[in-house]
Amino acid sequence: MKTIEIAGHTGHSQILVGERLKNLKAYLDWKRTVIITDDNVAGFYQKDFPIADVICVGTGEKAKTLKTVEKIYHRLIEMEADRSVFLLGIGGGIVCDMTGFAASTYLRGVEFGYVPTTLLAQVDASVGGKTGVNFKGYKNMVGVFSQPAFVVCDPGVLKTLPAQELVSGFAEIVKHAAIADASYFACLEENAVSALSLDAAVLQQIIYDSVKIKAAIVNRDETEKGERRKLNFGHTFGHAVEKTHGIAHGAAVSIGMVAASLLSLNRGLLTENEVDRLRRLLARFKLPLRIDMDKEKVLDALVRDKKREGDGIHFVLLAGIGQAVVEKISIDELKTVLKNLAFTRS
Ligand SMILES: NC(=O)c1ccc[n+]([C@@H]2O[C@H](COP(=O)([O-])OP(=O)(O)OC[C@H]3O[C@@H](n4cnc5c(N)ncnc54)[C@H](O)[C@@H]3O)[C@@H](O)[C@H]2O)c1
Ligand SMILES: [Zn+2]
Repeated sequence: MKTIEIAGHTGHSQILVGERLKNLKAYLDWKRTVIITDDNVAGFYQKDFPIADVICVGTGEKAKTLKTVEKIYHRLIEMEADRSVFLLGIGGGIVCDMTGFAASTYLRGVEFGYVPTTLLAQVDASVGGKTGVNFKGYKNMVGVFSQPAFVVCDPGVLKTLPAQELVSGFAEIVKHAAIADASYFACLEENAVSALSLDAAVLQQIIYDSVKIKAAIVNRDETEKGERRKLNFGHTFGHAVEKTHGIAHGAAVSIGMVAASLLSLNRGLLTENEVDRLRRLLARFKLPLRIDMDKEKVLDALVRDKKREGDGIHFVLLAGIGQAVVEKISIDELKTVLKNLAFTRS
């Protein structure tokens, strides 16, 4: 087991990579702990939970709402939970985001922790203190920054994860390497096959390296005033494709990373060879590189993107593998490059 710390203004977080769900009993006073989980995770793992009160929520983005958080408040009040309660979210990013938000607002804030059970939640959603819910169809519209007291990442629980969910996690992992660490990128190139087949040692090392990159960025810029924006690599374009074409987040981010790398190539920041390395690595993780897209729709969604400022959009580009830079791309430049992207509809 290895430990990573986040020391933020909104709390101090300890992330334990390689600890087991079964060993959780040692970490908390279970009489004052309430577990929040979802139906799927409860089905697989409730047998391994320590004995504590459990609140089970529904699955999917449609359940990530204020209404569900309200249900959590109701149950806590029924249980007569006071400020000494500890809320433990055991589940994917949706459970973690809602647990953190409910805990940060119930009685003006109680302690909380996470056991992320998807690869995406282990390397991304549980790290960094963003909590919240969707509102009126807008993703993560309402929320607060607040750090969990601890996060336990047990790679063993990933065995039951559907393949598509696993692949989504790998998209964020490739993102971390691409923006911050060339040698980690090379290590992923070497170990993609073992990682995909859930080789325990390889997976644990990858989760640790990814969390370390995200935690370091969060430690320097907790509330996304500057450097944390680099974590949006692949997401500006990705969100537009995800929204307009209804594809999975990881797949959209993968296509978004290819688009951002082509924009980088266009600006002379990245070489053809580096773009190819990124493409090959994504393909090895079974992520898509292209989509037969409706360019006008995607552009329209991009232009409406909340990151648009003046006559451009802040895009995370690569100035080499392992080195992200944030640059403003004008709508015209975007249109020109989009026109030349091999994977778009002509
Ligand atoms: N807070 C942040 O910084 C941050 C960062 C990235 C993403 N997010 C949020 O995370 C959410 C996505 O998280 P996600 O990808 O984990 O999705 P998710 O929570 O919906 O989980 C995916 C599916 O896998 C199931 N599942 C979870 N663990 C399982 C296991 N071990 N075995 C079998 N099935 C399992 C879930 O029930 C669900 O059906 C989004 O709402 C996104 O906004 C937050
Ligand atoms: Zn993402």
